[in-house]
Amino acid sequence: MPHPVEQAENRAGISVLEATAKTYYEFFVSEWWPDGLELPVTDIDYVPFEAEHGDDLLRLSRQVGWPHTGEDLSLITGLSEGIVALSEGKVAGTAFITRFGPAHCACNLIIVDETMRGRGLGRGLMNAIMTLAGACEKRLVATQDGLPLYRKFGFRETGRILQQQGLAAETASESAARWVDNPQLNNLVALDHAACGAPRAELIASLMKTGRVAALENGSRIEGFAILRPFGRGDLIGPVVASGTESAKALIDFILAQYTGRFVRIDCPETCGLATWLESRGLMPAGGGITMSTAPQIGRSRTEAQTFALANQALG
Ligand SMILES: CC(C)(COP(=O)(O)OP(=O)(O)OC[C@H]1O[C@@H](n2cnc3c(N)ncnc32)[C@H](O)[C@@H]1OP(=O)(O)O)[C@@H](O)C(=O)NCCC(=O)NCCS
Repeated sequence: MPHPVEQAENRAGISVLEATAKTYYEFFVSEWWPDGLELPVTDIDYVPFEAEHGDDLLRLSRQVGWPHTGEDLSLITGLSEGIVALSEGKVAGTAFITRFGPAHCACNLIIVDETMRGRGLGRGLMNAIMTLAGACEKRLVATQDGLPLYRKFGFRETGRILQQQGLAAETASESAARWVDNPQLNNLVALDHAACGAPRAELIASLMKTGRVAALENGSRIEGFAILRPFGRGDLIGPVVASGTESAKALIDFILAQYTGRFVRIDCPETCGLATWLESRGLMPAGGGITMSTAPQIGRSRTEAQTFALANQALG
């Protein structure tokens, strides 16, 4: 190998100082960097997510073992702003934020290609979306992999989500719920807002396009609802918003009774206490996640409405 300075001087178009530094780096790496030890990555571009990156997002999601279909991911990305990490022009990572009004957002689909992990891309992506999100409260549902990274960005644990799924068991229970074909969007959004503390009109409208709404009514007013839509390996129930446990069970039972033998998934906050009851309906524990927030509101005021199941782990 020629001497580094000699080689640097031969490089056209870069200053000798710059070229010398780069060449010394390459010389050091080629001669002395231990085989098998990950190199820090220096040439990553962080660019906005575009539709053309959709296939790579699906590839990364499948690599992690997540069940999202292309349609599931499009629903999320269509409501969100994303950043893509490019290494030599190839997608090596993604991260998104979904805004719910000016004061809240969900961070989601934070994935680094398994061959590129531990080299600073996760931190780079988080930096980018935290800047994009600005001063609002940021929430997410973390995997064990993501926890250490999120803690470094000021997220704190607020609870656990239990994922339960399986073939819906036959149930004989009577339910007062029914399908509502054209529910008042404002009615659903107000209930959801009261339950989760954020205005999610765009999300609810989008879920209504692909899903069906089961509701408990009092006259013409909806007092609790559950949305069923295709997701992953089958169908997903969520969000479920109700005034209490019995109402939530009535909504879920109504849907399961019509989906007996079909694969159904639900993601419930652990504090709802539905886990054992869901098992009796055929929906078995299948992992979960840790809810985190940059502004955990200790003692968030309780309202008439409560979230018994998430829209999904990405959106909350
Ligand atoms: C979570 C994930 C995005 C992290 O990406 P990454 O590129 O490996 O992360 P980085 O190399 O930027 O590491 C970021 C920081 O977290 C720390 N960190 C990352 N993984 C860690 C672990 N398992 N244990 C302890 N610390 C860890 C690093 O030390 C680093 O700290 P530093 O910047 O202060 O040195 C990646 O592991 C991943 O894609 N996992 C699978 C998908 C997933 O679970 N995503 C989270 C969804 S909520």
